[in-house]
Amino acid sequence: MRRPARVDAVVHCDVVVVGSGAAGLAVALAATPRRVTLVTGGRLAAHGSTPLAQGGIAAALGPDDSPSLHAEDTVRAAAGLADPEAVRILTEAAPAAIHRVLADGARFDPSPRGGLALGREAAHSRARIVHAGGDATGAELARGLGAAVRRGAARVLESTQAEELTTEDGRVTGVLVRRADGRRWLLRAAALVLATGGIGRLWSRTTNPRESYGAGLAMAARAGALLADLEFVQFHPTALAVGADPMPLVTEALRGASAAIVDDRGRRFLLDEHEDGELAPRDVVARALARRLLAGGACLLDARRAVGEAFPERFPTVFRLAREHGLDPRVDLLPVSPAAHYHMGGVATDSRGLTSQPGLWACGEVASTGVHGANRLASNSLLEALVFGWRVGEALGRRTGALEGVWDPTAAATTGSPEGPPTESPPTEERVERRIREILWRHVGVEREAGGLETALEELARLRRAPLDRRLRDLVTVGGMVTSAALARRESRGAHFRTDHPAADPASRRSLFSWSETRAELVAEPERAAGRPAEVAR
Ligand code: SIN
Repeated sequence: MRRPARVDAVVHCDVVVVGSGAAGLAVALAATPRRVTLVTGGRLAAHGSTPLAQGGIAAALGPDDSPSLHAEDTVRAAAGLADPEAVRILTEAAPAAIHRVLADGARFDPSPRGGLALGREAAHSRARIVHAGGDATGAELARGLGAAVRRGAARVLESTQAEELTTEDGRVTGVLVRRADGRRWLLRAAALVLATGGIGRLWSRTTNPRESYGAGLAMAARAGALLADLEFVQFHPTALAVGADPMPLVTEALRGASAAIVDDRGRRFLLDEHEDGELAPRDVVARALARRLLAGGACLLDARRAVGEAFPERFPTVFRLAREHGLDPRVDLLPVSPAAHYHMGGVATDSRGLTSQPGLWACGEVASTGVHGANRLASNSLLEALVFGWRVGEALGRRTGALEGVWDPTAAATTGSPEGPPTESPPTEERVERRIREILWRHVGVEREAGGLETALEELARLRRAPLDRRLRDLVTVGGMVTSAALARRESRGAHFRTDHPAADPASRRSLFSWSETRAELVAEPERAAGRPAEVAR
């Protein structure tokens, strides 16, 4: 039995959801009549990656489109490693998902001809991307769903950091959380849902916010859950390179609107790499830009002619972010760089969101459902968070029996003494975090090779030997997991590019791992990977 050493209160809950992005909100809205307790490290719907998402939601809504065409594009982007059944579920549910979100109170951009405006993005064979506020889809989704949750779908614990899952006899039984005042509560749960987002913060260049450092993934790993495809990290080609952290995203929709990427002489160098130029697959564009920047060249996004005066109206988020850094995209070129953006891997789940650990569900970016394989198709991430979040919520809502718990935080016994509010990281911790992120960017970035990956593992192991606070320990743990998985995959596929193994290995398949906390080691589970979806289900 793994139980935390000290808690100030024990609270008996029914369903506990950790995370308040699109996936967590979707679970909370769908789980009725279950009583949901939603834990978020910040403010509801204002924390994590969802409110920053500029890209839209893909759905086959056009007269020339169908879920099977959407599925074909998703499977092609995934570079041979998608789970076809998970993709079918996703793409068939997509049109209804848009209508469900509208019913929950979000607003999408209308077409002048009536209905919703449908945009086209790289690697989509049809125009099928629904946006809100031009390039503010995530913010609108968070607003709409967040308001619906606040109307009573869940009890919300804001500014509350989840720290550790508790297990008894192999079953996840709750989560230890730290409240804003420093007190630790143990939330005992009949069902625990992780919706904690991604891991982009592990890289020094990222579009992800500070909280996306893999705390949920690390907790699940320590609790014994199987993990999948950890090596597959998508690097977005165009983050605004102005020294901000996180780097502001410069949405791919700009390239969809014919903005060009040029060097300092104004030459469109991407045409040398791929016939689709700026609209080549995301990993191809990211690699071309990374190589050019490493060689000391410039990468500049030119939207002056393609978008010009319409920029503030069509891309208000990018416009505001550029203006905050003294750039005006109507007249200036925007310096861009690849940046860690999205994790295709994560806690292995089946298509119902079940993990290998009884009592534990996962959805959204922290989960690996098999939808994205080795590379995610643009605008499939919010969609996946919604569709699989609702599936988890509905499944829990339908369940009968021993889920019902008792919510009574005021009556909970207080033991031990509070430690006071968490303090800002002291400079040493900031330095260590910066070091971890530089190691990952340098050796586990857009291009990887065995020597660099081994160096990264050694350096992370050295850092791990020093006493680390919880956040740094998670950063080192998750960094080591991703690096080990990248070392184990001796081929190039999708977003994982090995310069020492540049070709794809036709025999390769999805990877499955467990984590040994005592040995601080990722353990390959090839025999369990063979029957993966059934294995993960219980
Ligand atoms: C973007 O707008 O370029 C990002 C969209 C996505 O990550 O799907």
